[in-house]
Amino acid sequence: MLANVPLLADFPLFPVAASEQAPGIDALYWFITIISIVMTIVIFAALAYFAWVYHSKRHPHATQIEGSTKLELTWSILPFLVMLVMFAWGAQIFYRAQNPPKDAMEIFVTGKQWMWKIQYPDGTREIDELHVPVGQPVKLTMASEDVIHSFSIPAFRVRHDVMPGHYNSLWFTATKPGRYHLFCTEYCGNQHAGMIGWVDVLEPREYANWASGGGAQGSLAEQGEKLFQQNGCATCHLLDQQGRCPILRGLYNKPVQLNDGRTVLADDAYLRESILDPNAKIVAGFEPNVMPNFKGQLSEENVIQLIAYIKSLSPGGPASQQGTQQPAVVIAPRSANPPKVANAAQH
Ligand code: CUA
Repeated sequence: MLANVPLLADFPLFPVAASEQAPGIDALYWFITIISIVMTIVIFAALAYFAWVYHSKRHPHATQIEGSTKLELTWSILPFLVMLVMFAWGAQIFYRAQNPPKDAMEIFVTGKQWMWKIQYPDGTREIDELHVPVGQPVKLTMASEDVIHSFSIPAFRVRHDVMPGHYNSLWFTATKPGRYHLFCTEYCGNQHAGMIGWVDVLEPREYANWASGGGAQGSLAEQGEKLFQQNGCATCHLLDQQGRCPILRGLYNKPVQLNDGRTVLADDAYLRESILDPNAKIVAGFEPNVMPNFKGQLSEENVIQLIAYIKSLSPGGPASQQGTQQPAVVIAPRSANPPKVANAAQH
């Protein structure tokens, strides 16, 4: 009805709902909105009614009204139950949003003043343009190169802050092929408003066609392997025998015993930290200050490539990695005198 008014047609009240989670989020939104409207009407109606009835002209003598336990319990318990419904419903949506399905396809996003850089497992890279297949859960792993950004796709009802120094993630399953806006929704400098782009949702066949372009520089894991060699990582992280630094094969998503007695999971966050700030967590049996600090030496995109390489060394990693080529066994250059024990390596 309103859409027939020419101006309003260009400014829809809601963006289209183009993801699996959108209808559920909209339903909760409407539930809360309707409850709020109803409660506002009830409160203002009561206010007007009492103002009318107890106006000094109609009710010149004040009367003391004693409390009513029944009434007070009713207006405490009923709203409490309604709030609990909001809480439980919201918590369920939140919990689902925090837990991407295991078979989600992983795409990497790096925010940088003022653009979104996208990296695909096959090595393709794009700026301000995200291609996803329809009907397939997609998990975005996001990093920031500088300040806090916020990645938002209104049509999918997803948004997440992208904090420097962390990986943040969100996931969605697109349901309608088409082209949708993507925004930065956190003020991040004077060109924040220009930090926008498009999400292209393609039919699976079209997507396969689009993806077959492939990365000119090999898959993400292969790009990572190149960096691994270039930065000399391979001299200490030997693939099949103990070097000065821990073996990386089979490491991904496995528990790691640290020298302070803690055990941590070798997930993306751990690998990222260990690359940029190796002394933050030292593996049990190894010495600190062996590996140089790569903070400032490697971009977030480089770190994503390196992590993809490390993941590729762990068959049976996340599903998103299965599609990428598993590089053949890489023979790392061995130093002439590989130290046998880790603590011999202090020079
Ligand atoms: Cu990035 Cu606003």
